Order: sequence, then structure tokens, then C-alpha cells
Amino acid sequence: PNISIFASGRGSNFKAIIADQSLTCQLLVSDNPTAPVIEIAKKHHIPTFTFEPKQYADKASYEQAILAALKKYEIEWIFLAGYMRMIGPNLLNEYTGKIVNIHPSLSPAFPGKDAITRAYKARSEQTGVTIHYVDEGMDTGPIICQQPVPIHEQDTLETLQTRIQKTEHQLYPKVIKELINVKTLVE
Ligand code: GRF
Repeated sequence: PNISIFASGRGSNFKAIIADQSLTCQLLVSDNPTAPVIEIAKKHHIPTFTFEPKQYADKASYEQAILAALKKYEIEWIFLAGYMRMIGPNLLNEYTGKIVNIHPSLSPAFPGKDAITRAYKARSEQTGVTIHYVDEGMDTGPIICQQPVPIHEQDTLETLQTRIQKTEHQLYPKVIKELINVKTLVE
């Protein structure tokens, strides 16, 4: 099945996904024309759909434009990887059960931005990574899988970030493969 990755920034998860030999991404969608993730896509000859929300009247209009791009590339699954926008009803209804997000905490702890920093400052013993289906909430929706990541006493924010990213880069490609192959497994 064809997949699309949605990303707004650095794109390290995007990079980890496309580096997996058994995964191909048919379309990168980004709401940020200057995001480094777009350069990564170009380098790998992956088509991109980039838009700026301010060029559209409202969310419904830019999501219609996204939908048109998804249709063009016959996309079946959407994986959010650092996409900094909420998914609206248009996309949610069209891709029910087919939109997945990765979040750097053990949900429901620390939803939203700066989840790693907040877990670090809270002096939690552990934090983690959550992969979940997307609903209308912020980093909510049925959990597919979670992996705890320890916070060591000697950790700086940077060493913790590195440990979490490493976990994300291993986990997300694996989970994506399992999800998109479910159909072939039961057939
Ligand atoms: C990741 O930590 C992801 O969990 C969160 O946003 C970050 C994106 O990082 N939703 P990158 O752009 O993939 O490097």
C-alpha cells in the first residue's frame, strides 16, 4: 500500500523510515516550505506536496488540497512524523483508522509540544515513545505501541533527546511495516 509521511521540520523520522529497505514513501506532505525534511525528500526523489496554511482561507481548504494530492498518489496510509498541525475532520473521515502519529512521551503523559523537555524537567524516572492512531485530539487516540525510555540521573536534555530519537527511529519503521502488512498477513 502507498504511504504518505507528513512532517513540518527536521525529518529524522522521515529519514529513518525511507532508509528502511522494505519501505517506500510515495509522498511527503509538509506545511513548512523551508523545512529541512523537504531537502531529504528531494535528495531521494520522493514527491512532495508543500503548502502554506496562510495561502488558504481555512483548514478545510488546505486539507482539500492535501486530499487531492493524496488521491493523485493513491495514498492509503498517513504517518505523521513531527507534523505540527491537528488533523481536521476532512482528512480524518477520509482516512479513518489510517492516520498514525509518533509522540515522544509515554502517553497520556506530556501531550503536545516539548514533551521531552517537560518529562526531563519533571524529573520522571522514565519517559518514552508512543505510536497511536490519530483522532481529533492533541496526541490522543488509540495507542498502537509504546516503548519506555529511561531517564538517567546524569542525563542532560541532549542525551535524553538522543536516546528518545534513537528509539523512535527504530520503532516507527517497524510499526509501519506491521500496520501496512496486516492485510496481506490475514489474506
Ligand atoms: C519527533 O520527536 C516526533 O515524536 C514528534 O516530533 C519529532 C519530529 O522529529 N512528533 P523529526 O522531524 O522526525 O526529526
